[in-house]
Amino acid sequence: MKRRLFVTTALPYANGSFHIGHIMEYIQADVWVRFQRMRGHEVHFVCADDAHGAPIMLKAESEGVSPEELVGRIAAERPRYLSGFHISFDNWHSTHSPENVELSQDIYRNLRAAGLVAERTIEQFYDPVKGMFLPDRYIKGECPKCGAKDQYGDSCEVCGAVYAPTDLRNPYSTLSGAAPVMRQSEHFFFRLSDQRCVDYLRGWTQSGRLQPEVANKAREWLEGDQGLGDWDISREAPYFGIPIPDAPGKYFYVWLDAPIGYLASLKNHFDKGQAAAQTDQTFEQFVADPTVEQYHFIGKDIIYFHTLFWPAMLHFSGRKAPDNVFVHGFITVSGEKMSKSRGTGISPLRYLDIGMNPEWMRYYIAAKLNARVEDVDFNPDDFVARVNSDLVGKYVNIASRASSFLARFFDGELVDVGKLEAWQAFEEPRHSQEIARCLEGREFGRALRTAMEFADRVNQHFDAEKPWELAKDPSQRRRLHEVCSVSVAGFHALTIWLKPVLPDLAARAETFLGCAPLRWDDLGAPPARVARYEHLMTRVDPKLLDALFEPAGPAPGTTQPATAKTAGATAGAGGKSAKAAKTGVATGAAASAAAGQAPGAATISIDDFAKVDLRVARIVAAEAVEGSDKLLRLTLDCGESAPRTVFAGIKAAYAPDQLVGRLTVMVANLAPRKMKFGLSEGMVLAASFDDPSRAPGIFLLSPDDGGDAGMKVR
Ligand code: MSP
Ligand code: ZN
Repeated sequence: MKRRLFVTTALPYANGSFHIGHIMEYIQADVWVRFQRMRGHEVHFVCADDAHGAPIMLKAESEGVSPEELVGRIAAERPRYLSGFHISFDNWHSTHSPENVELSQDIYRNLRAAGLVAERTIEQFYDPVKGMFLPDRYIKGECPKCGAKDQYGDSCEVCGAVYAPTDLRNPYSTLSGAAPVMRQSEHFFFRLSDQRCVDYLRGWTQSGRLQPEVANKAREWLEGDQGLGDWDISREAPYFGIPIPDAPGKYFYVWLDAPIGYLASLKNHFDKGQAAAQTDQTFEQFVADPTVEQYHFIGKDIIYFHTLFWPAMLHFSGRKAPDNVFVHGFITVSGEKMSKSRGTGISPLRYLDIGMNPEWMRYYIAAKLNARVEDVDFNPDDFVARVNSDLVGKYVNIASRASSFLARFFDGELVDVGKLEAWQAFEEPRHSQEIARCLEGREFGRALRTAMEFADRVNQHFDAEKPWELAKDPSQRRRLHEVCSVSVAGFHALTIWLKPVLPDLAARAETFLGCAPLRWDDLGAPPARVARYEHLMTRVDPKLLDALFEPAGPAPGTTQPATAKTAGATAGAGGKSAKAAKTGVATGAAASAAAGQAPGAATISIDDFAKVDLRVARIVAAEAVEGSDKLLRLTLDCGESAPRTVFAGIKAAYAPDQLVGRLTVMVANLAPRKMKFGLSEGMVLAASFDDPSRAPGIFLLSPDDGGDAGMKVR
């Protein structure tokens, strides 16, 4: 039966470029969607920029542009990433659009008519200088527990205490520095605590549709001591958002109109006539149609919005709720969490710019994904091994090996393999069924393992038959022909299974196989002849991974003493690059060297020096970094709640054991740097001469007796 599918990914905030986490989500959804299309189903796959909210408004203001301009600039970047990674959205729209205004206001009116909107007076911090109410993240002050300065309004980064912004001592607005005052205003609330909502959401979340861990979370929220709280859906001007009907100066909170953006993008897709190829329904008919299935691919951080607010908003506004949300974990890089604000992780554009094949990434991510809410780790060595051994060594290899004999002896023609024992022994139908089941259930890793197990069978058969020897014996022509034909038939099946993951490679394979764009029901019908084999995919050169993780500048962890004077040989995060000089980290001598001046010529002010946050740190662990002959991975206690990781190019001078327990000096405010092996969160200081013949080696600094971890060096 033909299914009718409406599929989205989460709508990314339009205040920044895509990071690798977004790309991972799009790859997951895109593989699933392409699989459904190959099965002959009707799919409408859309996304949009999430344009509204205070952070976007304030970011635009700080850049001196309008929010529309900022959002427009980000929107203009999107196609490069999407086409670069072969993400096949049918439409990309924006929540800052007429469709979204209309739909959001409609849904709000419907909820109000259902008696689910309440008006209440609340007290909130207000910035009297900036003239606006302050979202929690723009309020800082002293921790009420430990007194640490400059802590956010929700929790203390030093002692870990959790509290309300009103608990902060000496609070200030991060926007103006002014002391905020408490002020009252009228807010609108979506009455989620209403028994109708609670009953409905119990049903929706506990009906077995959700992933088990997602259903458990929802149950905790629904059945917890406090139950569901009402949801504050309004914000006061100034706000970049959608005006609330009949409430001048008030706007919908961004999370109210964001998911409605799913519908806005779908409507825009229909209104542009793009859906007409697949359906003659209007947008309104389509979204009301009970046979249409609606799915959202999202990350684990936004489950609350998608399993409680969103189904309730749709249902109680008289609309159809989603059929499911598919939740994935986060991508980590070499085991390190990536953080948008710190700009770590893998840059998707850099990946493309240095010429890495987007399908390597698609394959690698798909191979690591399953249907659970588990984080996915990008490990560079694993990436190289997986792509080279599976894609090149197993899959592509089949076609390149078989095709040369077919071209040489049989003019590209294949025998009919259906009745051949060798073909039947491959068990293509069993593999096909298993792979389809796994792709449908988002068990992509398992689907690909099953495909590779099949590829192993094909390669083993080829190896066992030794066609290169059969080819020498004219009496073995038939056998040679059969061996190569079953191999190509295997390649044909593999191409179909891998096509959702590798659409571009599949298109080139289709040329070789001389067939129309492959669909799932082409399984079991391999071609009668093949075209000349053209090279399909190159191996990953591990050097590319080095390039991916090294922005401009020297190799990671090289101390490069040649540019440093006695006190300045640095080891770790910044290396000795022009970048380090710019951030004020290099010594005066190094900075001047970087600027092309004579050493010693430049001076810095005491204020410049004070910008460098130097601290005593204790090395609590040290270990060699596999695959690097220069680096040690140091775990440093610098008096913070959590230790830091720093990669230091001191392996030649110190054995890890020698270092554990000793104190040294670190630069604590150096911008973190992503390296092939992980994130380096600072730099330790070491001394060396320019001229290594004077005193060879690198000498870590340490404080005199009595110094302790966390002390400032000034
Ligand atoms: N704008 C909201 C979503 C609104 S949906 C109506 C938002 N935007 S986001 O840009 O922060 O995140 C977009 C998606 O990327 C979310 O599904 C989020 O979980 C996902 N990811 C963000 N960081 C991620 C990783 N490190 N790894 C994988 N996915 C990640 O939230
Ligand atoms: Zn504290």
